[in-house]
Amino acid sequence: MENNLKGIILAGGNGSRLAPLTDSLSKQLLPVYDKPMIYYPLSTLMLMGIKDILIITTERDEFLFKNLIGNGEKLGIKISYEVQYEAKGIPDAFILAREFINNSKVVLILGDNIFYGHDLTSQLIDSVKKDSEATIFAYRVKDPSRFGIVNFDKEHIPTFLEEKPKSSKSNFAITGLYIYESNVVEYAKQLKPSKRGELEITDLNNIYLKKNKLNLEILGRGIAWLDTGTFESLQDASLFIKTLEMRQGLKIGCPEEVAWRLNYIDDEELVGITEKYSNNPYGNYLKKILNEKFN
Ligand code: DAU
Repeated sequence: MENNLKGIILAGGNGSRLAPLTDSLSKQLLPVYDKPMIYYPLSTLMLMGIKDILIITTERDEFLFKNLIGNGEKLGIKISYEVQYEAKGIPDAFILAREFINNSKVVLILGDNIFYGHDLTSQLIDSVKKDSEATIFAYRVKDPSRFGIVNFDKEHIPTFLEEKPKSSKSNFAITGLYIYESNVVEYAKQLKPSKRGELEITDLNNIYLKKNKLNLEILGRGIAWLDTGTFESLQDASLFIKTLEMRQGLKIGCPEEVAWRLNYIDDEELVGITEKYSNNPYGNYLKKILNEKFN
């Protein structure tokens, strides 16, 4: 994995579609079954080998994220924070993160996007290694008009992108995971707000498309990309996680486990974490995976 790879979790926004749940709490801190939503995108970035992560939040919620995740030391990684004072759009993340990005390649994940599936991590790691300026990930959905969409040819070369089209010419949504070279900061600065007053990620990706610099990866049907944007999909995501966790006895999106399995923290440090959660199912799970190592 490249040393010079950084990650951003965008966890701001108004969360208005989930009000009143979000009237006093960030959407990305809402529970998805047994853990806060942000644990899932955080785990995804960690599984990609990223150890330097910036969390962008609202001014109101920043301290809550800091209370929960801190500076990342307990996970053997580095976490820093930036406030987005107004929801100016997803590409605003790159303008806010310009110093953090510096000359690095960067992965952006939306704080409300959950990815899970066989071989997902290796596909993501391979995508980072590709020599392309920008990479987006497409996933087949029943209701593409709710998302950014992409059309592509037989070789999976992207030909057309559109944000929430009224009627979609494609069944493939663009997921909330993006990889860019550091030139993304300059391109983001060139964007103008759309009719709804936001900088649009699809406009940013269209810049790369027009320069033939946009790489498209398709996430296959063996992968789950879950959406948490409505009451129903939030509940469905919880049920999906619950069903798999109950069946396998393994957790999805558990950053402490990821940190331990990737050797970012050692056995002793994991024991330290379990003490915080003593006699609680989360702590018992961490103890169990640790014990299994020795049995
Ligand atoms: O989830 C994938 C989709 O995400 C893509 O298919 C779309 O192309 C992309 O525009 C985006 O669509 P959404 O309708 O989900 O965007 P939303 O405005 O809800 O923002 C997504 C997340 O980013 C949300 O959790 C809040 C956060 N956000 C959003 C904006 C606009 C911020 O933190 N700051 C912002 O300024």
